[in-house]
Amino acid sequence: MSTSTAFQDGPISAEALVNSGLRNLWYPVAPSWMVREAPIGVTRLGERIALWRGQNGDVHAVEDRCPHRGARLSLGWNFGDRLQCWYHGVQIGTDGTVLEVPALPDCAMKGRKLNRAYAVKEIRGGIFLYFGDAAHPEPCDLELPEELTDEDKHGAILCTATWNTNYRYAIENVMDPMHGAYLHRESHSMSEGAEIAKFTARNTDQGYVFEKEGQTGVNFDWVEFGQSGADWFRLTIPYPPKSGPGGHFGIIGFATPVDEAHTQVFFWRTREVSGWLRDMWHFLYRMRFEKRHWDVLEQDRVVLEAMSDDAREHENLYQHDGGVTRLRQILHRAAEAQVKELADAHAQAAE
Ligand code: FES
Ligand SMILES: [Fe+2]
Repeated sequence: MSTSTAFQDGPISAEALVNSGLRNLWYPVAPSWMVREAPIGVTRLGERIALWRGQNGDVHAVEDRCPHRGARLSLGWNFGDRLQCWYHGVQIGTDGTVLEVPALPDCAMKGRKLNRAYAVKEIRGGIFLYFGDAAHPEPCDLELPEELTDEDKHGAILCTATWNTNYRYAIENVMDPMHGAYLHRESHSMSEGAEIAKFTARNTDQGYVFEKEGQTGVNFDWVEFGQSGADWFRLTIPYPPKSGPGGHFGIIGFATPVDEAHTQVFFWRTREVSGWLRDMWHFLYRMRFEKRHWDVLEQDRVVLEAMSDDAREHENLYQHDGGVTRLRQILHRAAEAQVKELADAHAQAAE
């Protein structure tokens, strides 16, 4: 059965769920370049997952635990449509079924689906997996922002990093645009703009926008949070004309929990530029801007990793933190709904 680790011991609280990562969503788990010939093992949402590419290049993902005695399957061998465990050779197929037990061909394990398997999508150089709970094992629809889906219109370069912090701090950091004028004041693209501001929030079809009143196109002036089968955020940063073609620089980002204390952040840097101008922009980006963007990300990482674990329990929030509080409400409400649906499903199953 396809169950999520968070619920294997029965229902948990909404707070514990939101802390470990909401279920019933797609999350990017790795950049495409990380998954090549040899299987790899990653931990996402507290779950160990083995990833590999089959013969036609498609990515497969199953629980990274051999059903025989628990060795990590990602240490084993890629046989295309299956992984073979390194320890005693048991073979697990792409849907988590035991296909062969070479040491004991008529073993009762053979033919049983003993491992969880994940639905996979590969989009713009990123591998997305669906993390359903026991009440929602089938993947939901995924509608990503146009910057990732319209390849003709938008260039998109993926940057990813591991941060030693809970994923909520990583998203809250983005939904707090005012930090741009302080933490990143030395940055080439965020040195302009008011250091005093008022913010407003407005709802969108998929989430909300949190923006500075009376200032757009100057700095990191607005952010958007969206839920459309994955939780994502979007922002733009104006670029000076000498920064090449394509107008403002955009970010579509995701914060995927590794476990409760680590996050894999995925930032697609986007620009509306196509054809040879895109090639030129990518060249310019690699030569002139990539390092600066890493420096900015490092500033975020350093501040977030140094915050105390219980930072959010001892805060004095002010007007600029409306984007953060709205995010917390949305995540908490979603977690409460998931916990309730799961409890209802358990109750029904017990009847
Ligand atoms: S632990 Fe994998 S085959 Fe024995
Ligand atoms: Fe930042």
